[in-house]
Amino acid sequence: MDNKDNTTIAAEKCGCTGCCTDSRSYFAEVAEQWDEIRSGYFTEHMRDAAIKKAKAASQGVVADIGTGTGFVAAGLAPHAKKVYGFDASPAMLDVARRNLAGYANVELMESPGDHLPLPDNTLDGVFANMFLHHAPEPLNAIKEMARVLKPGGVMCITDLDTHDHTWQREKMADVWLGFDREDIHRWFSEAGLSNIDIDCAEGTCDACGPDGEVKPLSIFVAIGTKI
Ligand SMILES: C[S@@+](CC[C@H](N)C(=O)[O-])C[C@H]1O[C@@H](n2cnc3c(N)ncnc32)[C@H](O)[C@@H]1O
Repeated sequence: MDNKDNTTIAAEKCGCTGCCTDSRSYFAEVAEQWDEIRSGYFTEHMRDAAIKKAKAASQGVVADIGTGTGFVAAGLAPHAKKVYGFDASPAMLDVARRNLAGYANVELMESPGDHLPLPDNTLDGVFANMFLHHAPEPLNAIKEMARVLKPGGVMCITDLDTHDHTWQREKMADVWLGFDREDIHRWFSEAGLSNIDIDCAEGTCDACGPDGEVKPLSIFVAIGTKI
């Protein structure tokens, strides 16, 4: 009889060395390897093209929500006045601190994405790459990002379109299997954003399935301006 406990079974299924069934334990486990893992999912070219869509907003005071190891913050820092990076994972932030040590205009803080430690109407731009599919309540997260934007400020969210890679729930602690663009459009409107534009990113997320085969997923870039 197999008497393995649930934690061992979950760990074997998802292929990690410990149980990574929730976001915090998953990102604590992969923090040191995240930059390499992420490079197959989202390239610098895709990041820079998305930042460009936010135009002048990216040069002011900006924030990267779910900054992780600071990938988007690193793309913003050379041009922005000030970059805040928020993330719920202390382990990911430790790596971000190393990655961004050369930038005096970057401030990194542990914070949940739906409760940001900033006053209303603070930012010129707010960015979130591959964070939204980890947010338990995506609309609340979008509303919180809109709260901290100044009127005229720009939100830029890059994330996965709806997909059927159910293994990503277990393997990567994903809460949502991507999003319908119509939902994103509606949520941006409900959060008080206008001039909403949702387009394809300049590349795909080349996720590797449990069988080792690469199964590309499409990514959207959603932009909106706070009214
Ligand atoms: C897929 S990673 C993306 C990291 C980074 N944006 C990038 O492009 O490499 C998702 C990040 O969101 C963070 N995260 C997950 N849930 C969160 C929450 N509720 N509040 C803040 N950060 C969260 C994770 O710790 C992780 O760093």
